[in-house]
Amino acid sequence: MHHQVIIEPFKIKTVEPIYMTTEEERICFLEQAHYNPFLLHSDQVLIDLLTDSGTSAMSTRQWSAMMSGDESYAGARSWLKLERVIQELTGYPHILPTHQGRAAERILYGYLGGKGKVFLSNTHFDTTRANIEFSGATAIDCPIEEAHHPSLDHPFKGNMDVVKLETGIKQHGANNISAVILTVTNNTGGGQPVSMENTEAISARCRKYGVLFIIDACRVAENAYFIKHREKGYENKPYKQIAQEMFSLADGCVMSAKKDGLVNIGGFLALQDNQISDACTNLLIITEGFTTYGGLAGRDMEAMAVGLEEVFEEDYLKYRIRSTQYLGEKISDMGIPIMLPVGGHAVYVDSKALYPHIPVDQYPGQALVCELYLKGGIRCVEVGSVMFGRQDEQGQLIPASMELVRLAIPRRVYTQSHVDYVIEVFQEILDTKNSVRGMRITHEPKLLRHFSAHFERI
Ligand code: F0G
Repeated sequence: MHHQVIIEPFKIKTVEPIYMTTEEERICFLEQAHYNPFLLHSDQVLIDLLTDSGTSAMSTRQWSAMMSGDESYAGARSWLKLERVIQELTGYPHILPTHQGRAAERILYGYLGGKGKVFLSNTHFDTTRANIEFSGATAIDCPIEEAHHPSLDHPFKGNMDVVKLETGIKQHGANNISAVILTVTNNTGGGQPVSMENTEAISARCRKYGVLFIIDACRVAENAYFIKHREKGYENKPYKQIAQEMFSLADGCVMSAKKDGLVNIGGFLALQDNQISDACTNLLIITEGFTTYGGLAGRDMEAMAVGLEEVFEEDYLKYRIRSTQYLGEKISDMGIPIMLPVGGHAVYVDSKALYPHIPVDQYPGQALVCELYLKGGIRCVEVGSVMFGRQDEQGQLIPASMELVRLAIPRRVYTQSHVDYVIEVFQEILDTKNSVRGMRITHEPKLLRHFSAHFERI
């Protein structure tokens, strides 16, 4: 096609109203939510960019498949169909269904982890890290150096530093490494892709030292898009085949199907090894459900089986990546500092660069999150020192390496005019940036504090 505009490759059949709010109302709502958008009611939000997880719009094919869901406790037809789809995609023989990604993480990392054990990753996502640390083990991030510099361009900024990986394995001893986890795309690092070359290098090190290699495949289709368009030798390969090649380099995967499975709930664990699979199957039955449904209804498994195929369709992926880029390019052109290049599922704003007058211990990212809500009813999440900061013995903040704000794009949900509205709100953010103040935490839980912490304005 020679046209410039890439249209949404779907028509809208069912619509859900957005409740309009005024800035005065939002001031009140945000105060009631203690300046933490996780505590807002969704009806108080105009454009919800909090997450791309479980927020996809399903297709007519998925909805019709749901009607044929087989709700049998054991051996359901819907399960056999899903199992076939996942086996074909991943090449792994053992498939364990779970209600979402972190349940697969809890089972696998809970089993492999424990005191004295170490996990190495390009970057552990927050639930991944929490599950590992909850088991008593240690999670160490080994991203490439470029990943720490938001404005630096690099085609595969999600890559793992292979030298750091090898040093880590030697330092802790291969026997103590529970697994190497490669997150594709690297969510915490800005939704950045991982190259096949890097995956091969990691795979070779893992084989050399006899360490288990697991792929966190939440956004494996989006990652395949970037490989096809940025890595030599993949120009003519179908997206699914690229993903299959990636899986073939590892020993197993965990997946939250709430992302590239195009469903509202669902996940799985897939493994090569019989022994690990047996141990995990026990945990699955105790905590999630029987092996042929995990934590899912038959209809959920039907929707997932279709979603895992639709996500690799060429028109879909092209629209998906382009619509994220569209938002990123427009706000970047106007002068909003963002993580470059734009990733697959989200645009990450560098709040430290936007608000240089707000020190990191006053959470510039949280300040931006609140501004976006107040000015435009847009909800998004801080991915910085609120999410990843720690306290030293004196109670001083050990900040995260970057202070990002994530605008995650739900799949097939918003149209270009919704995105144009977001862009307009960013112009207001830019015009008023010097008057924005920092935040202070007034209440926080022990783990995963970003979900429920309370804040106030300084
Ligand atoms: N791994 C990655 C890379 C993720 O992004 C997520 C979830 C999970 C694992 C856990 O999956 O939510 O199904 O239990 N990410 C969501 C997000 C929550 O907003 O990025 P889950």
